[in-house]
Amino acid sequence: MILLVGGEKGGSGKSCLAQNIAVYFAKEKDASVMLVDCDPQKTTSDWIQARHSAPNLPWINCVQLYGKIRYELLSFENHYDYVVVDCGGQDSTTLRAAMSVASHVLLPLRPKRRDLKTLPHMEELVSSCQMVNPRMIPRVVLTQCPSLPNQAGRILESKDVCRSYNLAVLNSVTFSRNLYDDSEECGESVLEIEGDSKAAQEIRNIISEITSIAVEEEDGVRGSEIGWQAVG
Ligand SMILES: Nc1ncnc2c1ncn2[C@@H]1O[C@H](COP(=O)(O)OP(=O)(O)O)[C@@H](O)[C@H]1O
Ligand SMILES: [Mg+2]
Repeated sequence: MILLVGGEKGGSGKSCLAQNIAVYFAKEKDASVMLVDCDPQKTTSDWIQARHSAPNLPWINCVQLYGKIRYELLSFENHYDYVVVDCGGQDSTTLRAAMSVASHVLLPLRPKRRDLKTLPHMEELVSSCQMVNPRMIPRVVLTQCPSLPNQAGRILESKDVCRSYNLAVLNSVTFSRNLYDDSEECGESVLEIEGDSKAAQEIRNIISEITSIAVEEEDGVRGSEIGWQAVG
């Protein structure tokens, strides 16, 4: 599985999500993971450096890659159970190359107008990448949602806006919680600093939802996988 966490909106929580997902697979699935940092800001590389200098945290492999990274990602896919790609920033060759081979694409967005304004471009990006990679399962995930009950409407409305751009959106969201920020500081995941926290459960829900889509849709995409193999 190549799971890309991407999108062009800075601060939406891409690195945070990629890191927590990588820890989930390594720690709770006992799987081999390669975390790929494609963002020149190197947030995930800095996080992994903090992680590797802390004692007793399970090791996670991490590399920085930029540009035409398609074959590198396919090679990792052959050697690791999960390849998690943190691809932030502008639309780029790197983002498109990663999308051309990803099995799953998570697009984190906050339920805010400035984040939602990136949807038309995300739709174009996803639909053009699906032409070369029909096996790709793209999903928007809403992050840093307000937890006040009177703000719930904003979350539902944001989901509707995503769907209006033909982008499916996960039911699972992350709420705005300090634990995300606190865990990053020392290279940890919310699953590690408080495994039974609501934040940890949010991460598990997101992964469970996106991986179950894979199972459900597998039969549906099987026909197009022939085309995919020809491209790959
Ligand atoms: N659900 C959340 N609740 C609170 N803070 C969050 C949440 N998700 C991410 N953050 C924080 O938002 C900031 C930006 O996140 P980051 O993952 O670096 O964004 P991006 O990679 O999209 O630019 C970080 O300080 C991170 O801890
Ligand atoms: Mg980032």
